[in-house]
Amino acid sequence: MRPADTSDLWWRTAVIYCLDIETFQDSDGDGVGDLEGLANRIEYLAELGITCLWLMPFQPTRDLDDGYDITDFYGVDPRLGDLGHVVELLRIAHGRGMRVIIDLVVNHTSDRHPWFVAARRSTRSRYRDYYVWRDRPPRGRPKHPVFPGEEQSVWEKDERSGQYYLHSFYRHQPDLNLENPDVRAEIARIVGFWTKLGVDGFRIDAVPFLIQPPGAADETDPHAFLRELRRFAGRRAGHAVLLGEVGLPHRDQLDYFGGSETELDLQFDFVTAQTAFLAFVRGDARPLAKVLRRRPTIDVRQGWATFLRNHDELSLELLEKDERAAVFAALAPDEKQRVYGRGIVRRLAPMLGGDPRRLRLAYSLLFSLPGAPVLFYGEEIGMGEQPELGDRAAVRSPMQWDRGAYGGFSATRPSRSITGIPDSGYGPDHVNVHDQLRDPDSLLSFVQVLISRYRAAPEIAWGEFTVLDAGEHAVLAHRCRADDRAVLFLHNFSDEPRHVELKTADVGGDRLHDLLAGGAEQAEDGRFVFDLAAYAQRWLRITEMERS
Ligand code: NOJ
Repeated sequence: MRPADTSDLWWRTAVIYCLDIETFQDSDGDGVGDLEGLANRIEYLAELGITCLWLMPFQPTRDLDDGYDITDFYGVDPRLGDLGHVVELLRIAHGRGMRVIIDLVVNHTSDRHPWFVAARRSTRSRYRDYYVWRDRPPRGRPKHPVFPGEEQSVWEKDERSGQYYLHSFYRHQPDLNLENPDVRAEIARIVGFWTKLGVDGFRIDAVPFLIQPPGAADETDPHAFLRELRRFAGRRAGHAVLLGEVGLPHRDQLDYFGGSETELDLQFDFVTAQTAFLAFVRGDARPLAKVLRRRPTIDVRQGWATFLRNHDELSLELLEKDERAAVFAALAPDEKQRVYGRGIVRRLAPMLGGDPRRLRLAYSLLFSLPGAPVLFYGEEIGMGEQPELGDRAAVRSPMQWDRGAYGGFSATRPSRSITGIPDSGYGPDHVNVHDQLRDPDSLLSFVQVLISRYRAAPEIAWGEFTVLDAGEHAVLAHRCRADDRAVLFLHNFSDEPRHVELKTADVGGDRLHDLLAGGAEQAEDGRFVFDLAAYAQRWLRITEMERS
């Protein structure tokens, strides 16, 4: 685990921060965030310890799905800036040692994209076959639209030709036809363009939908595209990462990492995220321990992107029925907090009742798990959701920088609300960067410490991962070990104190140094004894290791 061996694979230890330029910082007072505003905040992100920015879509858009409906893959939404601003941003971020990845949204285009406009105008257009057309909606997969309630079917009739086109998401997002080599060539050009401009990789949207068009010929290997894409990206920018959104169980995710040839370098770990919420709700670490023990081993060049919240609903799809019901009941008691029958449109802090102990537990867990942690903007200060923005937009309100008018986000009223629910306790007056930066006990200060400890302990992402038997259902004990370095982590999910004893033989050493609170612990009679307060977390470096 020498830096010389690991730095090429920078994504394995990246600390990723996801943001939407539109809601991060407005620089010109029009109420919409922009690239220049973000550039002015790079310092903040660098100080926080972020090593990789993930920019949500910023290209020209019809804006019916928050930018995930692109009308020009080579441009910039004029409200946010232009390509010159992108280059400036890349230069500034790189100058502060931060990499930048962008969303690659090529499962579909906007229905206003010139390709689709042309495809619709004439069945003889060369762009007709860029999309997936059928004479009538076929039976079989996919049966359900991704946004049930908002869409009834994944097939929409085109009145002009009488044919139906596929849209896995909204009807204004027609799916591209990956079977068409011209479409694959277009995608390669898009990847080539942005890597040439300087981006360090892509978060690939909706990967399973992208590579598995319904009705594809049986002999087609859908994964061939991902391998091809990985090879191409590697040729254009050797260090570029492909981080995929694959919302499937671990065993199915394995296929997307690839076999002898790499497909995705990183994948979001949806199962662990969902199970973590179950553990928070039940005060029981066992489901999490089980999932983590079974998490498949992957190639050393690949990794998991761990997270708790993102810009979408907190989906509970991968939990069992009773588990899902328990999480819904505890975290989204109000029907309006739920969407699509599967998810919760809330931010982390209010879901955990704003309890600083529970928030610390959650973030400590996130940064202690093997993988590259991903933060969604505003989560580091404990922002709340704004339900009046509607469904998924509830968690996409403007960043709260200070107590000033409009939370320091803009000089004028933002295009999206920043007022919060009356008396919610999560508006800019209560939750903002400025105040928390000056408070050593704030959530922001804690997250900053966790990031620096995570970065100083590469064995978390690189090492051998073991879940220990803590002897207490509420406590997760795990260890990450590489070469002669190891860290032991303890997390108490209960609202009651818990007593844990671990044998030195299981820990793998008999002296521990506390990385969060300072101080040391010496084993006695071959064991360590820990009295953990409610929701406590410990990060303990094993300083006198037993040889294995
Ligand atoms: C997944 C994105 O995370 C989500 O926000 C978007 O609506 C869909 N893909 C469609 O692009």
